Amino acid sequence: MDIYSLLKPLLFLLEAERAHDLTLKTLRLAEKTGLPVLPGRVPTCQPRQVMGLTFPNAVGLAAGLDKNAACIDGLAALGFGFIEVGTVTPRPQPGNPKPRLFRVREAEGIINRFGFNNLGVDTLIENVKAAKFKGILGINIGKNFDTPNERAVEDYLICLRKVYAHASYVTVNISSPNTKNLRALQEKEVLSALLATLKAEQTKLAREHGRYVPIALKIAPDLEPGQVNEIADLLMEHAFDGVIATNTTLARDAVNGMQHAEEAGGLSGTPVRDKSTLVIRQLAERLQGRIPIIGVGGIFSGKDAAEKIAAGASLVQVYSGLIYRGPQLVRDICQTLR
Ligand SMILES: Cc1cc2nc3c(=O)[nH]c(=O)nc-3n(C[C@H](O)[C@H](O)[C@H](O)COP(=O)(O)O)c2cc1C
Repeated sequence: MDIYSLLKPLLFLLEAERAHDLTLKTLRLAEKTGLPVLPGRVPTCQPRQVMGLTFPNAVGLAAGLDKNAACIDGLAALGFGFIEVGTVTPRPQPGNPKPRLFRVREAEGIINRFGFNNLGVDTLIENVKAAKFKGILGINIGKNFDTPNERAVEDYLICLRKVYAHASYVTVNISSPNTKNLRALQEKEVLSALLATLKAEQTKLAREHGRYVPIALKIAPDLEPGQVNEIADLLMEHAFDGVIATNTTLARDAVNGMQHAEEAGGLSGTPVRDKSTLVIRQLAERLQGRIPIIGVGGIFSGKDAAEKIAAGASLVQVYSGLIYRGPQLVRDICQTLR
């Protein structure tokens, strides 16, 4: 039995956000004291070349767990092939009132309506600079809750410029359900303009910095098939570097009647697994290998990860699976995918 199997029942006794905070604090303490976070080692895996980067293994940490990049080193010790921090916004913001994180235990799901609580991009960068981690770091950027959609592009530009020198890749998050109207940025005309502006800025920054940093777009699982195709076409038109599918869902069909199912927010974990796989499969059909897909949503085992790869993903990310299965999940996936 691994240590997480012992800790999980205790963590699950706590209110969800307290358990989350305590876990991050423990990771930071382990970082500072040099205590091993995970005994043993992660199996060696086949490195993957994706978006022009070499990933030591195919399993990454999804955005949202370490919003401020406050414990990159502790998380890296869990054996991830890459870590995505954020979502970060230009200015700090508190997020929605608590409680805003709920377990739907019966379905191994999580509902969150954090609303991009974060300390702002400047603090995130300080934290990234202080970390020892030399692996692949994704920085996920968003907009402040009080920036209207017509000015959203300015927030993404502020973040892109600031994080550029510190990121291996940047993720543009337009798919969180907890920032009012954010998902409307996925609509064709608006998205086309956003992608064009960000691409032009990336070209300029690449010249200035002498380094090309790939940009990926993170999309929702609740898109109609027509919208997925539209987004795929825009990604190709604007030569985006990657797409992350998917974020959390607003749908509740998989959890109807269960405790907390009626809470507002984005649902993740097992209930989003198949929805996200469908979006990946559809993207893969449309993109025909021209833009790599990072698959995320309900990965709780090596088999789930293999399913995402079979659907067309080149890499995977986990969040909810880590809460329900513990850090052993990273090894299990590596073992299956190697
Ligand atoms: C508590 C929580 C907070 C999240 N915060 C973010 C976020 O800030 N930015 C983002 O792009 N995705 C965020 N996500 C979405 C995850 O990165 C992931 O896309 C989604 O949860 C599906 O994967 P999973 O089923 O493995 O959790 C969050 C998910 C959870 C559960």
